[in-house]
Amino acid sequence: MITLYRAHLLWSDSPTGLREVKDGGLLVADDGVIIARGVFDELAVLHSSAVIRDLRPHWILPGLIDLHVHLPQYESVAMDGLELLPWLEAYIFPAEARFADAAVAQRAARRFFGDLLSLGTTTAVVYSTIHQEATDLAFQEAESCGIRAAIGKVMMDRNAPESLREDTETSLKQSEELIQRWHGKAHGRLSYALAPRFAPMCSPELMRGVGQLSEKHEAYIQTHLSENVEELAWVQNLFPDCANYADVYRRHGMLNRRTLLGHGIHLDDSERAMILDAGASIVHCPSSNAFLQSGVMPLRRWLEEGLSIGLGTDVAGGPSLSMWDEMAMACTVSKLRFALLGEANATVNPAEAFHLATLGAAKALSQSHRIGSLEGGMDADFIVVDPRRTDPAERLEDAADRVLSRLIYRADPRMVKATFVRGNQCFVQAS
Ligand code: GUN
Ligand code: ZN
Repeated sequence: MITLYRAHLLWSDSPTGLREVKDGGLLVADDGVIIARGVFDELAVLHSSAVIRDLRPHWILPGLIDLHVHLPQYESVAMDGLELLPWLEAYIFPAEARFADAAVAQRAARRFFGDLLSLGTTTAVVYSTIHQEATDLAFQEAESCGIRAAIGKVMMDRNAPESLREDTETSLKQSEELIQRWHGKAHGRLSYALAPRFAPMCSPELMRGVGQLSEKHEAYIQTHLSENVEELAWVQNLFPDCANYADVYRRHGMLNRRTLLGHGIHLDDSERAMILDAGASIVHCPSSNAFLQSGVMPLRRWLEEGLSIGLGTDVAGGPSLSMWDEMAMACTVSKLRFALLGEANATVNPAEAFHLATLGAAKALSQSHRIGSLEGGMDADFIVVDPRRTDPAERLEDAADRVLSRLIYRADPRMVKATFVRGNQCFVQAS
């Protein structure tokens, strides 16, 4: 069965290239792949046997992509008052230790993925805990709810609390078993993202093993880099022979095209050159960076240098699971950089933030042939939104950039009406 969705279509095909079709059609095949996108009337004539789903006056947008989020931390959001390292000790490690219990892990995963879908996130790159069973359950829940996800078991073999410390060999062995079970499964909807937490809690052997597993299985690597100044000093102490923080990962074989580096606030010139050279990506997490008082990454500068960048909520570092809030924060903090530091051209607008949360993120995942936009040949990962929910005047005839600006700055939990991944409706709002 072929389905023709009728709605106002909005997507991004370049950082400044916001595109729309006002009375649009999105033609989706039975296997969940987009056949064509265009003007509704034209597609309806060409494909007269398609089943029509008229979604007007709602809009269709590509699904949002969260490149950095911690599943086990969802219930610990909004714990205010501490910076990164004491916050991890006080709130996060105790929360993660509870995932030794499979029942806790399963309940949390179900709620987490359900909430992501209800917010319009169709792809998430997720840290689990060190627990193999909890990570397996996270994959099972992602498989059954239909979301697209890259997930990884956190790896920590030193300087972590006793209850969360593993030996190097076990950490690598369990990660490889999970790769074999899940990487590329569900028609490529699920993938594995090795998750060495960050350099201070990983031995050189562990990091080298991670690099080798990534190469061997073409798995992603997700980790944290250059987030907090105390963390930087710790890394320098632990790795006196490395030139800087990024060099720690480079020397241990962890920088490649499939590496996603969370934060990257305080990077120097040579670190950015290393990241660019390796083809790795930075995940900008502005809400978390504000909440944990970590700093403000110069997003505009890093973009102009050609770095590959996406956005992440970094729950529970960031207090919101919503990529709408994250896009708003990316714009807001860029304005603050301009206002407070006088940094020329620092501001980032909603269309650019939307690009980072869709096609830009898809590029960081090397999946821009498949997700991030509404092109023929891509998987049908899209969301149905009601822009009237964000507008006191309920205008639908405004310019697309204004409508998008309201969706981002004034996101309303009820504005996402439905969420589709690979053509499958994974969430629908109760009426
Ligand atoms: N650095 C190491 N672990 C974490 C974490 O869980 N959250 C954040 N924001 N930074 C980290
Ligand atoms: Zn994080």
